[in-house]
Amino acid sequence: MMAFEIRTDMDGIDFDEVAGLLNGYGLSDLDSNTQRIVFERSYAKVFILDDGHVAGVGRALSDGICQASIYNIAVREDLWGQGIGKIIVDELLRQVEGCNVVLYTHPKHIGLYEHWGFKKLKTSYAHFQREEYFISQGFLE
Ligand SMILES: CC(C)(COP(=O)(O)OP(=O)(O)OC[C@H]1O[C@@H](n2cnc3c(N)ncnc32)[C@H](O)[C@@H]1OP(=O)(O)O)[C@@H](O)C(=O)NCCC(=O)NCCS
Repeated sequence: MMAFEIRTDMDGIDFDEVAGLLNGYGLSDLDSNTQRIVFERSYAKVFILDDGHVAGVGRALSDGICQASIYNIAVREDLWGQGIGKIIVDELLRQVEGCNVVLYTHPKHIGLYEHWGFKKLKTSYAHFQREEYFISQGFLE
């Protein structure tokens, strides 16, 4: 793992690579410039660089005091299972320490966040754009 660089700022980050990673998993459909704005406006961000190239990302929205939400956790597929996803979530949680943290995950990844003690919400609601997509993918009733 030491060959990877963990970055929490955006200097020199290639947002074509960020957009490519997220869009490739269907986690987003934004172009790279819009993706840059999304990360700029996020309270916390993490980029894992492999030889200077984006190999993992994650971000959190937050007020920095009491509430936070995590989005866009993704690792390049050839690097899965090496603990990079864990490093990303650990680092985001560090940046929003002291906050209540909420997230929703892809139906394929239910269980993943139990590693950090996340529990299922019993009263959560979502008002999504592209609602049909979320229904078809099994996120929404
Ligand atoms: C989810 C994802 C980020 C995990 O990345 P990763 O680098 O392979 O994860 P790690 O190697 O750090 O694994 C962390 C832990 O979660 C577990 N885990 C990984 N994927 C899991 C899954 N789908 N369901 C349950 N547990 C999972 C691992 O076994 C590991 O546990 P361990 O420490 O007890 O061995 C990666 O699979 C990915 O990029 N998926 C596509 C993007 C995506 O759908 N992201 C949405 C997540 S909200």
